[in-house]
Amino acid sequence: MEIRARRIETGRWIVVGLVALLGSLGCARALSGFFDLPSGDDKKPVAVPRAAATEVEVAAPPPIESVLDRKQSRELLPDDSMGGVDWVAALREGLIRPRPGLPGDKPPPDLTGFRYDMVFESDDPEYAASFPHSSHVEWVDCLSCHPKIFPSGHTPITMDAIDEGELCGRCHSQVAFSSETCHRCHFNTEPETDDTKHDFMGDIVLARGQPGGDVTDPEDLPLSRFPHWIHRIRYQCRACHPGLFDMRAGAAVITMAEMSAGKSCGRCHNGRDAFRAQVDNCDRCHYQGSPGGSSSP
Ligand code: HEC
Ligand code: HEC
Ligand code: HEC
Ligand code: HEC
Ligand code: HEC
Ligand code: HEC
Repeated sequence: MEIRARRIETGRWIVVGLVALLGSLGCARALSGFFDLPSGDDKKPVAVPRAAATEVEVAAPPPIESVLDRKQSRELLPDDSMGGVDWVAALREGLIRPRPGLPGDKPPPDLTGFRYDMVFESDDPEYAASFPHSSHVEWVDCLSCHPKIFPSGHTPITMDAIDEGELCGRCHSQVAFSSETCHRCHFNTEPETDDTKHDFMGDIVLARGQPGGDVTDPEDLPLSRFPHWIHRIRYQCRACHPGLFDMRAGAAVITMAEMSAGKSCGRCHNGRDAFRAQVDNCDRCHYQGSPGGSSSP
C-alpha cells in the first residue's frame, strides 16, 4: 500500500466544493488540479487494433456471482490475518467485480487514481493510522463520508469513538473489516492472527418485523433481512449509498408498494436484475433463520 503523510489545513468548504465539483464535472480529472492524479500524458500511446474499437465485449460476471449459498461464498473469499473476509484482496484478485451503480443508471465517475492517501500521526508512533482515500473510493461514494461522517477536514479521531461505532467505526466492524484487525490501519504494528474463518458481517434485520410473524398478514409481518455480503459481492457501496439508502440501519421506511413501483429494493428485485419481490419469493427476504441463502442454518 502506498502511504504518504499529507495533510492540508483547509476547512469544510474545500471538501464540499470538491465533492460538488466532482459531481458536476462527472470525472476524476476534475480533481487532478488539486491532487496527484495521473494526468494520462505520461502514458505512451498504444496502437489499438481496429476490431477492438467496434466490438463490444461484455465480460462474464465472476463465477462467485452464480453462488448464493452463504457458506460456499465465504469459502471462495480470502481471509485477512484475523479470519475476516479480505475484500480488498478479493477485488485485487478479480474474484469479485462489484458494479459501481444501479442497473440502468449511467455509471458514476470512475475514481481510480484518486490517490489522496493519508496517515494520521499519533503520540505513540506505533499507532499511526493509515487512511487510504484511494482504496475507499473503489467502493464508497465521497458523499457517504463528506460531510456526513467527516465534515471539516479536522475531525478528531480516537479509538474509543471507533469502538463505539462512530467515524471509521460507522463502517469498520459493521460492514467493512473489524476494528480488531489493528495492523490493517496501524501499519507499524505486528499482525495478530486468528485461525477461525469468520462469517460475513453486515446482516441487517429491518425495523418493523416481528419474530414468528406471518408474511400473508400485514399486521403480523415476519422479520425481513438485508445481508450486505451477497450485495457487496455484486455491487459497490456507492450503488446504494447514499442515493438509495442512508448508511444507518432503520433509517429507511421500506414498503412493498415501493418495491412494486421499482423503487427501494425493487430497483433491482424486479425479476430481471435480481429475483422479483412483488409476486413470490416472500421467504427469501422474510424469514426467521440466519440471513442470506435459503440453505444456511
Ligand atoms: C471512507 C470515507 C471517505 C471517503 C469515501 C472519502 N473521504 Fe475524504 N476524507 C476522509 C477522512 C477520514 C479525511 C481526513 C479527516 C477529516 O477530513 O476530517 C478526509 C479528508 C478529505 C479532504 C481534506 C480536507 C482537509 O481539509 O484536509 C478532502 C479534500 C477530501 N477528503 C475529499 C474527498 C473526495 C473528493 C472524496 C471522493 C472522491 C472523498 N474525500 C472520499 C474520509 C473519506
Ligand atoms: C479502521 C482502522 C483502525 C483499526 C482497525 C484500529 N484502529 Fe486504532 N486508530 C485508528 C485511527 C484513525 C486512530 C486515530 C489516529 C491515531 O491516533 O493514530 C486510532 C487511534 C488509536 C490509538 C491512539 C490513542 C487513542 O485511543 O485514540 C491507539 C492506542 C489505537 N488506535 C489502538 C488500536 C488497537 C489496539 C487496535 C486493534 C485492537 C486498533 N487501534 C484498530 C484507526 C484504527
Ligand atoms: C463509509 C464506510 C467506511 C468508513 C467511514 C471508513 N472505511 Fe475504511 N474501508 C471501508 C471499506 C468498504 C473498505 C474495503 C475493505 C473491507 O470492506 O473490509 C475499507 C478499507 C480500509 C482499509 C484497507 C485498505 C487497503 O487498501 O487494504 C483501511 C486501512 C481503512 N479502511 C481504514 C479506515 C480508517 C482509518 C477510517 C477512518 C478514518 C476508515 N477506514 C473509514 C469502508 C469505510
Ligand atoms: C444493495 C444495496 C446496498 C449495498 C451495495 C450496500 N449497502 Fe449498506 N445498507 C443497505 C441497506 C438497505 C441498509 C439499511 C438501511 C436502513 O435500514 O435504512 C444499509 C445499511 C448500512 C450501514 C448501517 C449499518 C448499521 O448497523 O447501522 C452501513 C455502515 C453500510 N450499509 C455500509 C455499507 C458499505 C460499507 C457498503 C459497501 C461495502 C454497503 N453498505 C453496500 C444497502 C446496501
Ligand atoms: C427483496 C426482499 C423482499 C421480498 C422478496 C419481499 N419483501 Fe416484503 N418487505 C421487505 C422489506 C425490506 C420490508 C420492510 C420491512 C421492515 O421495515 O421491517 C417489507 C415489508 C413487507 C410488509 C409490510 C407492509 C408493506 O407493504 O410494506 C408486508 C406485508 C410484506 N413485506 C409482505 C411481503 C410478501 C407477501 C412478499 C411476497 C409476495 C414479500 N413481502 C416479499 C422485503 C421483501
Ligand atoms: C443494487 C441491486 C439490489 C438492491 C438495491 C437490492 N438487492 Fe437484494 N439482491 C440483489 C442481487 C443481484 C441478489 C442475488 C440474487 C439474485 O441475483 O437474484 C440479491 C439477493 C438478495 C437476498 C438473498 C436471497 C437468498 O435467497 O439468498 C436478499 C435477502 C435480498 N437480496 C434482500 C434485499 C433487500 C431487503 C433489499 C432492500 C433493502 C435489497 N435486497 C436490495 C440485488 C439488489
